[in-house]
Amino acid sequence: MEDLRKQIIKLREDFTKGVLNEEEIYKNPASQFEFWLQQAVDAKVSEVQAMDLATVSAEGKPTSRIVYLREFKDNGYWFYTNYNSKKAKQLLNNPNASITFFWPDLERQIRIEGIVEKGSNDMSDDYFNNRPYDSKIGAWASNQSHFLTSRQELDEKLEELKKQFTPETIVRPDFWGGFKLNANYYEFWQGRKNRLHDRICYTLENNNWKINRLAP
Ligand SMILES: Cc1cc2nc3c(=O)[nH]c(=O)nc-3n(C[C@H](O)[C@H](O)[C@H](O)COP(=O)(O)O)c2cc1C
Repeated sequence: MEDLRKQIIKLREDFTKGVLNEEEIYKNPASQFEFWLQQAVDAKVSEVQAMDLATVSAEGKPTSRIVYLREFKDNGYWFYTNYNSKKAKQLLNNPNASITFFWPDLERQIRIEGIVEKGSNDMSDDYFNNRPYDSKIGAWASNQSHFLTSRQELDEKLEELKKQFTPETIVRPDFWGGFKLNANYYEFWQGRKNRLHDRICYTLENNNWKINRLAP
C-alpha cells in the first residue's frame, strides 16, 4: 500500500497536445462543443460520450455519477435514466446540474452547467424503441438506486419480464426516459505545460454568451 501511495504521488503528466485561443474559438459554445466532440470522435477517444453528471440533494449535498450523452442540440444535452433513481429524484427537486467530459487523449476537459428538465415523451419513446431488446428489458427490470436483497432477485425478475414482454410487444416504462440539460455556462479546458492550462468560459447573460479566460 505504501508503494502504491508513492507511485500515485509521483504520477505527473505534462500536457503538450494543443492550445486554446480566444481568436480561434466559436462565439457560440454549442458550436465549440461540437467541434471538440467531433475531434474526440475522430481521435477515437474511448467512451467519448461518457459524462460525469453532478446533482444536489434537498440538503445541498452533491453527488455525481457517469451517464451517457445521447443527443445535443441548441445548447441542450440529453441523457436517459430511471425517473425513480437517486439522480432523477434530485433533479426533479432541484434542476441545477452540471456535466463534465474528460478526453485524456486530447488533454481536454469540458464542463457544462445548466438547468435540467424532463425530456419529451416522444423523444424518450424514440430512443427507447431503438435500443436492443436486452437493454429494454433491463430498463424494466431495474428499480435503479434501490436496495436489492441479492443479485438473484434481479436475475429472476429479468427472466419473469422476458416471459411477459416479447421484442414485438415491449414498450417504454413510464418510469424511464430522458432529461435535457439547458446549458447556461461552459468551460473548455486544454492542458498546457507546467500546469499553465488554457481555460475559456462562456456565461449566458441576457441571451448573449460572454467569453472570458480563467486563470489555470
Ligand atoms: C460508462 C458508464 C455509462 C453509464 N451510463 C448511464 C446512463 O446513460 N444512464 C444511467 O441511468 N446510468 C448510467 N450509468 C450508471 C450510473 O453511473 C449510475 O450507477 C446509475 O445511473 C445510478 O445512479 P444514481 O443512483 O445516482 O441515480 C453509467 C455508468 C457508466 C460507468
